[in-house]
Amino acid sequence: MKISSLIVAAGSGERFGSQVPKQYLSLGGRMVVEHSINAFRSHAEIADICLVVSPKHTEYFSKIDIPHVMGGATRSESVLAGVQALKSQGADYVLIHDAARPFISHPVIDSVVDALKSGKKGVIPVVACVDTIKTGGEAVTGTVDRATLNRVQTPQGFHIETLLAAYDQCNTTYTDDAQALEAMGVEVGMVVGCEDTFKITTKDDYKRAQQMVEKIRVGQGFDVHQLIDGDGVILGGVKIPCNMMLKGHSDADVVLHALVDAMLGAMGKGDIGQHFSPSDERWKGADSTMFVKQAMTWMEEGGFLLQNADITIICEAPKIGPHRDAIHAQIAKLLKLAPQDVNIKATTTEKLGFTGRGEGIAAQAVVCMRG
Ligand code: CTP
Ligand code: MG
Repeated sequence: MKISSLIVAAGSGERFGSQVPKQYLSLGGRMVVEHSINAFRSHAEIADICLVVSPKHTEYFSKIDIPHVMGGATRSESVLAGVQALKSQGADYVLIHDAARPFISHPVIDSVVDALKSGKKGVIPVVACVDTIKTGGEAVTGTVDRATLNRVQTPQGFHIETLLAAYDQCNTTYTDDAQALEAMGVEVGMVVGCEDTFKITTKDDYKRAQQMVEKIRVGQGFDVHQLIDGDGVILGGVKIPCNMMLKGHSDADVVLHALVDAMLGAMGKGDIGQHFSPSDERWKGADSTMFVKQAMTWMEEGGFLLQNADITIICEAPKIGPHRDAIHAQIAKLLKLAPQDVNIKATTTEKLGFTGRGEGIAAQAVVCMRG
């Protein structure tokens, strides 16, 4: 009994209405359709997978290493093209799955496969209708007994020959494949689906999907600069007048450097020296706020959302207390965060070590991002 999977991805996503078709949008670092492909690929009972695509989407599906066939104008046409291809490769059963349902899980696939193994010619996963259902347009015309209703999902499992015979007899298009068997009078079994297997149809669905794959990301940074004679140190973008300055290639703002390293850490993007090399003339005497601004741009481009930042300045002098509010305000502004989402701490090392001897200033930063 050879069971294959057919993932239909040839639709144009009109209701979604994005430039990149919904099944190829990015979701947690891979395309929507790749989530489904992975679920079937990693399932022991699935012998092979075929992807049904549209010739209009070459730039997207060509990035995926998987056999494909060209679909048609309707979902039924797309399914038929794929099922015929799988049959010619010796498949006995097929699990037809919408590419736009990225959160298909092994337990649901198991249920469909088990029902086919028990002799069913067709089986669909369903979930209960929890809302009361009304008919009508501008006014209610009636209430439907929701206990008799089921919301249909995929993958839908079929005995391939039965499905092809059913499609042979029909000349209408269906929104799911079970309808072809129903029209022929073949019993279609139902198994319990899962709310997570929802289909991405609208932008709200995509938002829900993004929230499901979102991670909490933590980054930490540490930096040290040497203190020498001068007319003031720059900490967190604020110049503190005193008879010292911090030595460095840029403005040596040890606080912002630790902060940028924490941001890069949360994004998995290396460290500040890799992006702004200390040997690069462009950064000589540079205002370190520009490093933070660049990190903010990378964050926005990568779809990361900064939650909060916690910074510790470690030095004996200058005293941070009188300047804490200014540093706090400047960093909150740079990070576009509310005041309560930025925390500035200062500590000495009880006259111990290089900071204790006043040879340098150290700073630590921790940030939290979602994305
Ligand atoms: N599908 C397909 N071929 C078609 C139409 C749909 O392969 N001619 C696929 C879609 O890519 C999707 C699945 O069938 O994975 C479910 O269809 P639907 O959610 O309706 O997607 P679209 O048809 O792309 O969206 P819309 O109806 O909003 O245009
Ligand atoms: Mg459609």
